[in-house]
Amino acid sequence: MNIGLLGHGTIGIGVDRIIKKRTDMAVTKVMSLVMDDEIGDRLAASIDEIVNDPEIDTVVEVMGGVHPAFEFVSAALKHGKNAVTANKALVAACYEELVALAKENNVTFRCTASVGGSIPWLINIERANRVNPVESLGGIMNGTTNFIMSAMTNEGADFDETLKKAQELGYAEKDPSADIDGPDVRRKLSISLNVAFGVLTGEEEIPTAGLRYVTAEDVKNAKAMGRTIKLIASAERKDGVISATVEPAFLTGDEVMASIPSNFNLVWYRGEDCDLQCFVGQGAGRFPTAYNVVEDLVDLTEGRTGFYTDSFTPASIDNSNVFRPYYVRSAVTDEYLASVTETTGEGYVITRPVNVAEMHAYIKAQIENGNPVFAASV
Ligand SMILES: NC(=O)c1ccc[n+]([C@@H]2O[C@H](COP(=O)([O-])OP(=O)(O)OC[C@H]3O[C@@H](n4cnc5c(N)ncnc54)[C@H](OP(=O)(O)O)[C@@H]3O)[C@@H](O)[C@H]2O)c1
Repeated sequence: MNIGLLGHGTIGIGVDRIIKKRTDMAVTKVMSLVMDDEIGDRLAASIDEIVNDPEIDTVVEVMGGVHPAFEFVSAALKHGKNAVTANKALVAACYEELVALAKENNVTFRCTASVGGSIPWLINIERANRVNPVESLGGIMNGTTNFIMSAMTNEGADFDETLKKAQELGYAEKDPSADIDGPDVRRKLSISLNVAFGVLTGEEEIPTAGLRYVTAEDVKNAKAMGRTIKLIASAERKDGVISATVEPAFLTGDEVMASIPSNFNLVWYRGEDCDLQCFVGQGAGRFPTAYNVVEDLVDLTEGRTGFYTDSFTPASIDNSNVFRPYYVRSAVTDEYLASVTETTGEGYVITRPVNVAEMHAYIKAQIENGNPVFAASV
């Protein structure tokens, strides 16, 4: 297999180095905005040089972002080359178009590393659906926030100092919004549920609350109830209706997600016969993610082609039948909160089961009005 590698950053260098140790594949051309010694004489001047190279049969895209990644991957597929990517932004925005293009040109499009980093997640959803349709799925899909919550739980530290530590260790970006406000998890959940249920839903439809306003006090309150706080993605298909949320949750000790340490991810699905299947691993990082890209490439060399799904029924997220009790810490007790409160603690309330869409709308409005509410399902 001869590969054209698009992007030579964190993951691109990882892919390149892993492939250098193999004899069944080689990176023969590299597209990069910056030259480094490892690229040597393989630097391609443009995407045309890669897609028009008859020796290259596969393109690996690890540049990130939707554009020009979409145009580059499309060009590769149109030129009869397989494409593998770790780019969740591209997959969330363009999976349907890219699969259609790949089918048209009789090649394969794979993106296992785009959700869960090193975890063979999407590929196992595909395997599960062959025998036992996935009914629900979810998990801890962001290592940065799991690192923060684990440190806050173990050390009693506050959010700001833990976030700073995560940034110093390279787990969190300088601008941590995508991790701590939930959009990174929302994107991964959207890809997962679309693949699992064979639907097309927009990621912005999933109600999403993050961890920006969690405090040491909240962790202490959770502990007093025998709970651990984690940022949890979940989705379910029941009687044809798809529900999904991303939100902090108070987990009991006997829930497997409660014990996931440091920056690890845990993703799970459930089916009628297979029951609960959990996968734990590094959700990000140079070599763990590159490893999963190379796994996709090896699948191709062994003739395992095709798609996780190629059926896409347009659908909407509908949470109207999902009710959960919530822990809410708010500086203000307004009429709504008072009307749903079941028990009161010091500085917080536990609500009766309320509709999740309603609670998310409430949290969003409070934050927009300058009241940094922290809420978690219980
Ligand atoms: N890092 C992780 O742990 C991780 C985990 C799972 C998935 N992913 C995904 O993997 C992809 C790559 O992530 P990364 O962490 O490796 O990012 P990165 O370190 O920023 O590397 C991306 C590289 O691609 C280059 N690039 C951007 N546009 C280009 C273009 N038009 N032509 C040639 N090169 C271009 C960038 O150059 P400049 O820096 O000069 O812009 C950069 O060197 C992303 O889609 C990300 O979501 C990453």
